[in-house]
Amino acid sequence: MDNLDQLIEQAKTDFLGCFKLSELDHIKARFLGKSGPIAEAMKTLSLLSAEERPKKGAEINQIKRQIEDLLNIRKEEIISAELNKRLEEEKIDITLPSRKFEKGSLHPVVNTISSISKIFHSIGFDVTDGPEIEDDFHNFTALNIPESHPARAMHDTFYINKNYVLRTHTSPVQIRYMENNAPPIQIISPGRVYRVDSDATHSPMFHQVEGLMINKDVNFSNLKGIVQSFLQKYFEDEKLTIRFRPSYFPFTEPSAEIDMSWNGGWLEIGGCGMVHPNVLKHVNINPEEFQGFAFGLGVERLTMLKYGIDDLRHFFNHDLRFLEQF
Ligand code: FA5
Repeated sequence: MDNLDQLIEQAKTDFLGCFKLSELDHIKARFLGKSGPIAEAMKTLSLLSAEERPKKGAEINQIKRQIEDLLNIRKEEIISAELNKRLEEEKIDITLPSRKFEKGSLHPVVNTISSISKIFHSIGFDVTDGPEIEDDFHNFTALNIPESHPARAMHDTFYINKNYVLRTHTSPVQIRYMENNAPPIQIISPGRVYRVDSDATHSPMFHQVEGLMINKDVNFSNLKGIVQSFLQKYFEDEKLTIRFRPSYFPFTEPSAEIDMSWNGGWLEIGGCGMVHPNVLKHVNINPEEFQGFAFGLGVERLTMLKYGIDDLRHFFNHDLRFLEQF
């Protein structure tokens, strides 16, 4: 019983020497547990006289409460120390400079399509589009390329199934437009096209811009004049060197390919020609009454030539060091 006073001092020392909540529970049991000194002291009360008992009982309870208070104080201290430690460890330095967000800009191909559209719009051409998943009829048959025609082999086609393909060129837009609009027609149609093709000047997905003009008395000179003046405007060069090289497309007759001088040689930038009478017949336009020309230009090729880019694959590699230059 006499030792009970020292108990408070002992508890104080033990609690202060403890820094973990889990350990504190063990120390608590040592002082306040069933076989601890307080419980033992309570058991001895029955040995005391009736007068002494309540006084001693109150004394023991008083000591018990003091130990409980010390325990609670230490508990709070440990909790707040643990919290402070965590806050310190997880501290964020809000004075550090923030992460820089890269600002995007328009892709060079998008810029080229936009300036092509502007130039043609200024000379009275409308801009239209068509689906990238195209049926066999519009991509081939209506363009005078019937099944088993050798020209189908000129296009390395991605087939979706027997009847649908990823369009291999923008020329099917000619058909779709003429199906729904009567001449006179003056349109261009930029968009994505797909071919099983990949090297420095060929990409499996690339962009073309189709041009179509149908009216009475449209001739090959009109085609040459319009393509040439478009290219002069696009490259901002009145003395631009281009050539029309005789070629073959099933949907034009006569046909030509358009080359521009590049790296000491020539780079083909598009195909063109007078719309074949069979194509006009497919869309119920009388070839005796109307004629016209069509062309299809490679948008990436035009962009390469304008900016001196030597490999077309740069456009689709998503390398910011390349894209940031535009
Ligand atoms: C055609 O696609 C025809 N439809 C063009 C045409 C339209 C002719 C209307 C007559 C009348 P060609 O396959 O040559 O033609 O492609 C046209 C242009 O697309 C090429 O000159 C080239 O500049 C570009 N091109 C073709 N294949 C690729 C490719 N894999 N990657 C990038 N550009 C390409």
